[in-house]
Amino acid sequence: MKCKRIFLTGFMGSGKSTLGQIIANTLGWNFIDLDKEIEKKVGKSITDIFRDEGESKFRSIESGVLKQTSKLEDSIIALGGGTFTTDENISIIKSSGKSIYIKSKPEDIYVRLRFKTNRPLFQGLDQRILSKEEALQKISLLMSAREPFYSKADIVFSVDNSDVGKVVDLLIKTIYKKFNI
Ligand code: S3P
Repeated sequence: MKCKRIFLTGFMGSGKSTLGQIIANTLGWNFIDLDKEIEKKVGKSITDIFRDEGESKFRSIESGVLKQTSKLEDSIIALGGGTFTTDENISIIKSSGKSIYIKSKPEDIYVRLRFKTNRPLFQGLDQRILSKEEALQKISLLMSAREPFYSKADIVFSVDNSDVGKVVDLLIKTIYKKFNI
């Protein structure tokens, strides 16, 4: 069966949206950022949803938006870092398309997230700046809890700090090789 949608999973700050947008342009597909879809649907930023409604309400909204999104055709969908961590969401994703885990090292994630203020699970809602040690510990802990889920993706694609162009080239080649596009 032809593959009509590809879901990108991985930790916050692993480059899902950046890579997703480039792959979509290359394939001539649509690019969907699940967090942006959630923000549009609720009319609030992710940080405000976490603050006003709490994480469990956010997760149920996320699952609902995932269900709608998984009907779109010819689309690259960048998931939130926590989307691919429940059996229910994983089964929606597996039954509607292919998935790629964009795997980054905690140090690289830290460098990408350290000045961002829009990741409530990273800074906490008080937006406190974490020390490097605190941040790395937080990232590593959450990452090891999520790794068993992320690893269920159809492809595990490791990225390092090398040139984005090279990463994209390899990723596109891998997609053509492994998926029926
Ligand atoms: C989350 C990751 C975020 C966003 C929310 C929760 C997580 O998405 O969905 O802040 O649980 O890891 P990104 O991975 O796009 O940052």
